[in-house]
Amino acid sequence: MSYHKNLTIGLFGFGVVGEGLYSILKQTPSLKARVKKICIKHPDKKRNAPSELFTTDKNELLDDPEINVIVEVINETEAAFDIVTTALRNGKDVVSSSKKMLAENMPALLALQRSTKLALLYEAAACASIPIIRNLEEYYDNDLVQSVKAIANGTTNFILTKMFEDKLDFKQALLLAQQAGFAETDPTLDIEGYDALNKWTILLNHSYGIVERPENIVFTGIQNINQNDAAVAREKHYEIKLVAQAKKLKNGGVAAFVLPQFVNQQDQLAFVKNEYNGVVIESGFSDKQFFYGKGAGSFPTGSAVLSDISALRYDYHYEYKKLYHHQENQLTHDFFLKVYLSYDNGVYIPKEKFEWIEEWHADLKRNYLIGVLAFSELKSDQWWKENNISMILAPEPIIEDVEIRKLKKKSLELAGITL
Ligand code: HSE
Repeated sequence: MSYHKNLTIGLFGFGVVGEGLYSILKQTPSLKARVKKICIKHPDKKRNAPSELFTTDKNELLDDPEINVIVEVINETEAAFDIVTTALRNGKDVVSSSKKMLAENMPALLALQRSTKLALLYEAAACASIPIIRNLEEYYDNDLVQSVKAIANGTTNFILTKMFEDKLDFKQALLLAQQAGFAETDPTLDIEGYDALNKWTILLNHSYGIVERPENIVFTGIQNINQNDAAVAREKHYEIKLVAQAKKLKNGGVAAFVLPQFVNQQDQLAFVKNEYNGVVIESGFSDKQFFYGKGAGSFPTGSAVLSDISALRYDYHYEYKKLYHHQENQLTHDFFLKVYLSYDNGVYIPKEKFEWIEEWHADLKRNYLIGVLAFSELKSDQWWKENNISMILAPEPIIEDVEIRKLKKKSLELAGITL
């Protein structure tokens, strides 16, 4: 018995991802998915597909009753939202790779999915070729996920690798990432952490059923990381990675943030280099699993879109089990972080905000300290992103509120201070 639907696709966008997808679809005729029309913005560009496929009129796709799937891989957030919502309202299943649009509009999109009962799939929007959303939805479809940590942005990981292993400077490394097509059109979205944050917002929903606006999650990128930080990392046998993470704490809440972190060389994430992404999931009884794959680029992203298209043949939907069917999870701010801070000028470091400081270093080039801060100190204002301060988390950064007193006492005793 075969219950596969025939798919007639309207494709929006023919850039890095769209063209990759088109070429992949041509090489997989077994899928029986046909691209009927491609909507583009600039009709004069030369394209690697027959010219009769292209149009600049979105309604030729959205109003065509024969088209039953809209695939949207464009760059503009508002236009993507308009396309996706119109397509769902017009009775079409949708595949999207617009992570920013998805992250910023999740409540409205969830409501529309529920009312239309149509599919909106977006595996390509988080960690590109790694099938992480489908795994979180299907394999980890229970309450047992304890922690998830990920390298979710290929460009920043590529830059860090090139800076620290090949000694390229930041600008050269970024240029290479741009030439390879990994970087966003506006690369500050990568460098300052926005892209990883958007992906993390999406993955928090599938990991824990938490739907949160991106601006409510603490994050930064790699913009302030410098060669002196790299020297400290080397001395301590660490690597620096931009890590998105979430962890269920003993107080019942979920700690979540996207921040640079020192990782031990034995950590699975240390293995993730260049434009690759990696995700480590720790769950109840299975201990740790590590997912690894290309997180950016034409074919890796196209392959995730292809997998979603393929899933539509048998009417696959995300069920959002953790959101709709499990005990509610919420973000918590009641925990502490062990951080490394390097800085040019100590006047910008609010020492009184620290629970304790266990290392101070000063030399002619740069100063740094290692100490423990309440997470709420990072939420309330942005001092740690400003004045050329570089903040990098320690390898196991989270200290739960139930542990803080004991650890503080121990740390002060080591420093010769008794409470
Ligand atoms: N700019 C993104 C990255 C592309 O570097 O990860 C893939 O989402």
